[in-house]
Amino acid sequence: VPASYKEPYRPQIHFSPKEKWMNDPNGMVYYKGTYHLFYQYYPDSTVWGPMHWGHATSKDLIHWQHQPIALYPDSLGYIFSGSAVVDKNNTSGFGKSGKVPLVAIFTHHDPVGDKAGRNDYQVQSLAYSLDDGKTWIKYAGNPVLKNPGIKDFRDPKVFWFEAGKKWIMTLAVLDHIAFYSSKDLKNWSKESEFGKDLGAHGGVWECPDLFELKGNGKKVWVLLVNLNPGGPNGGSATQYFIGDFDGKTFTTSHRDTRWLDYGPDEYAGITWSNTSNRKIFLGWMSNWLYGTVVPTDRWRSAMTLPRDLALKQVGKDWFITSWPSKELNVITGKPVVLQNLKVQDHLDLATKLPAVAFPCRIDINLETAATHAVVLSNAAGEELVVGYDKQGNQYYIDRRHSGKVDFQKDFASRSVAPRISSANSMNLTLVIDISSVELFADNGLSVMTGIFFPSTPYTNVQLRAPVGIIIKKMVYTRLSSIWK
Ligand code: FRU
Repeated sequence: VPASYKEPYRPQIHFSPKEKWMNDPNGMVYYKGTYHLFYQYYPDSTVWGPMHWGHATSKDLIHWQHQPIALYPDSLGYIFSGSAVVDKNNTSGFGKSGKVPLVAIFTHHDPVGDKAGRNDYQVQSLAYSLDDGKTWIKYAGNPVLKNPGIKDFRDPKVFWFEAGKKWIMTLAVLDHIAFYSSKDLKNWSKESEFGKDLGAHGGVWECPDLFELKGNGKKVWVLLVNLNPGGPNGGSATQYFIGDFDGKTFTTSHRDTRWLDYGPDEYAGITWSNTSNRKIFLGWMSNWLYGTVVPTDRWRSAMTLPRDLALKQVGKDWFITSWPSKELNVITGKPVVLQNLKVQDHLDLATKLPAVAFPCRIDINLETAATHAVVLSNAAGEELVVGYDKQGNQYYIDRRHSGKVDFQKDFASRSVAPRISSANSMNLTLVIDISSVELFADNGLSVMTGIFFPSTPYTNVQLRAPVGIIIKKMVYTRLSSIWK
């Protein structure tokens, strides 16, 4: 049976593979009007296995076209996570007859060395494309960065550091980040290390990203570090550091741990390269705690929505906000606006709207921060609750009674995120797909992503809030499926 994209739990507004296993987004690069998305892929099973780079392309970040597998495992091992760059000046020499090479920098993971108990089995390698990303040729001189004898040595993210006229590679090394530089992508020298004594260390550091972020009159360097396990709600998650990078070292002055997404289901997120000042982030919408056992049949897992990252000041501190990329508008229907809603404990949206269905987007504005929640439910009495708890000053996703939860012991959870904003008024945006919710609170200062698997689809949306609370404005918008 061919994929119909109507299978139970199939995301309708998020990228998912036609079939089989997917994890991290890889090699995200924008070139000649096309967004490339590569991803960790195992085409023979719906669980993790020998890693390939799957490939999809998009003109608008929302509608995706599946492409043939870009990179297959070879004698050096599996193709683990990494990045891709546009080598405009042909520093690598891969370019031929004026063709600009796209260059992928990835980890080769040698399963034989791993099994044999060696600790140098992860090395960095290159592949290049001379047809704008369609097909890829592995570099004959691989690997380009050997392993110094540390087991976890992977996930290179590379960018061109203009001020120093060199490439910088940000690499995850067990419990820290190592920065390397190169003039030609082939010869790398170590610049510095960061993070052994900073940030969260409940697990291994993976999939980093380093980029400059400008906005609101401020310019900073941001270091993303994915961590597994040790996330704020268990398992895998993305932390970030705001600081400075001089071409050699990254420094930060904050000591608190900050999470780009506090929910259980955003991992390995990094940004697209070659998008100039715009920083567009995408993550794997799952968690290593249960990613391989979620109850989908044909395929496993999806990506988050693409999100634009920005800077926001709260008090003296600067934070990163995430917001659904404006391209989401291409599938956004006509908004239905409700004003001054008296919830009086609970209010079924069906009584206020001509129809309620998914996927959809719900925007809620309150004049002052108050306890309230959005509840999705079905006839089986299962419910998914997303809201704000004033007493704890926390946002939460409660999926304890959301449907199928017993496939893994940690799944039936209530996850929380701190409210970072100190504003009086409060806004919540929920983007709800068939089996996921993404919460962007306070214009994206507190973000949470969670997946769920009701035994029969949710059909109702209810607002809940104590008697006396008035929701100043609520906007409901249908989102149309990205699959034909
Ligand atoms: C993160 C990760 C990466 C690795 C890849 C393997 O989810 O563990 O560190 O490169 O997945 O599939």
